[in-house]
Amino acid sequence: MKQEARKRLIFALDVDDFTAAEEWVKKLHENVGLFKIGKQLFTRCGPEVVRMVQDYGGDVFLDLKYHDIPNTVAKAGVEACKLGVRIFNVHALGGEEMMRKTVAEVDAYCAESGSERPMLLAVTILTSSTEQTLRGVGIDRPVEEMVVLLAQLTKAAGFDGVVASPKEAEMIRAACGPDFAIITPGVRPLFSTMDDQKRVTTPAEAIAAGATALVIGRPISAAADPLEAAGKILLEIEDALAS
Ligand code: C5P
Repeated sequence: MKQEARKRLIFALDVDDFTAAEEWVKKLHENVGLFKIGKQLFTRCGPEVVRMVQDYGGDVFLDLKYHDIPNTVAKAGVEACKLGVRIFNVHALGGEEMMRKTVAEVDAYCAESGSERPMLLAVTILTSSTEQTLRGVGIDRPVEEMVVLLAQLTKAAGFDGVVASPKEAEMIRAACGPDFAIITPGVRPLFSTMDDQKRVTTPAEAIAAGATALVIGRPISAAADPLEAAGKILLEIEDALAS
């Protein structure tokens, strides 16, 4: 059960240099199965930091949120496959054709090379966006409506799931069915503070609402004993999975 929970805990490697990233992976890999590498760390360190995580037996969620013309995103996705990442993502606002072409090229590359296909996720509407943000770019629909519409588009394009707020997990689960992955940041265990996250849920609530895996940063990194904090979160996930 611990192994099952470990695969559902994604630590956000929100640091800006290789040494700090390696310290975290060394410290946490026993309790954390996946490490999220975002734009800052990847821009600084490049593929080397992906290989470092893999050398410790960890899997990588490459959080670069591609959004470009279909051909460019598809080719970037194939490069992510070559790095052996377990998950990578795009912006669903890039559209169905962009996602379909990415699925097609990733599938073709993985079949030809015999490599495991990564999980393909899309971001719907960033949780930092409000109705006002959307109106500013000419979208007059409510955020929730856009989230569901884009999650359905993501599914139709053959992607595996979305990154979403735990508060959105239930409506996405209802709209996209049981096999669609929902990865949620904005999770705060009972023992931690809120930081700058506003709409949070506990790990247990997120799993109960239908989240597949959780992205967690500061509740682990700011804890007095980060490995122990990750261990406590695993227990919460295990309990939620069992109930
Ligand atoms: O430290 P914390 O647990 O808040 O970190 C959450 C991680 O998830 C950060 O890397 C943050 O950028 C990311 N994230 C988020 N909310 C989103 C999308 C990503 O907090 N909507």
